[in-house]
Amino acid sequence: MPEPVIELAGVCRDFPSDPPVRALADVDLRVEQGDYMAIVGPSGSGKSTLLNILGLLDRPTSGTYRLDGVETTALRDGGRTRLRGTRIGFVFQSFHLLAHRTVVENVMLAEVYGPHPRAGRRTRAEQALEQVGMSHRIRFLPDRLSGGERQRVAIARALMAQPALLLCDEPTGNLDSRNTEAILDLFDGLRAEGLTILVITHEDGVSARAKRRVRIADGVLREAP
Ligand SMILES: Nc1ncnc2c1ncn2[C@@H]1O[C@H](COP(=O)(O)OP(=O)(O)OP(=O)(O)O)[C@@H](O)[C@H]1O
Ligand SMILES: [Mg+2]
Repeated sequence: MPEPVIELAGVCRDFPSDPPVRALADVDLRVEQGDYMAIVGPSGSGKSTLLNILGLLDRPTSGTYRLDGVETTALRDGGRTRLRGTRIGFVFQSFHLLAHRTVVENVMLAEVYGPHPRAGRRTRAEQALEQVGMSHRIRFLPDRLSGGERQRVAIARALMAQPALLLCDEPTGNLDSRNTEAILDLFDGLRAEGLTILVITHEDGVSARAKRRVRIADGVLREAP
């Protein structure tokens, strides 16, 4: 059996606020390569906390997290940053595009802090934009694009590092139903190419399109039908 992309065992995340919050409680999760999983649950249930840990933006208070077989909780910050930069792409509800940069420049910026050589950067950005069907808009500024097009550009930026794992926090939260469908079609295509996709969503239409669903309530995660 191949190594899972994600393996969480007994993960807890406590925030030392007053009163303290247990945002994740003893979470076990195994995600195989090519899985397409939706994470659902009420506001404040721990979804973003889980995604931050999976994305190596935050550390569990206790428990272990293996990413591609690497036990990440023991890694120093440099190792975590490298792993994040090469294995993980992020997509958020608000697209975080720079208003005064063109589409292709926004995608190229994904590499600025990475280990990638400057040579070929524009070509790689154009290829990522082709993957999301945005080749015809590469010299546009973001404010000339529809919401769905902006999100496709943000996904292209996330694909620049050729990640194994795409982590999405309400990626269709700002989109109408037609643009939502376009993004979900794109996810289907990326998954067919072998990408592992995790999507936080509160929209039934989005979670219905995933192959697998988990539900979080008060930090406790369960497999959902
Ligand atoms: N830095 C922090 N300090 C203290 N408590 C926090 C912190 N971050 C999150 N929490 C708490 O942890 C719990 C889970 O938060 P989280 O952001 O993961 O919820 P969520 O499921 O993503 O909610 P939403 O659907 O509203 O985005 C909440 O009760 C929140 O108040
Ligand atoms: Mg959240």
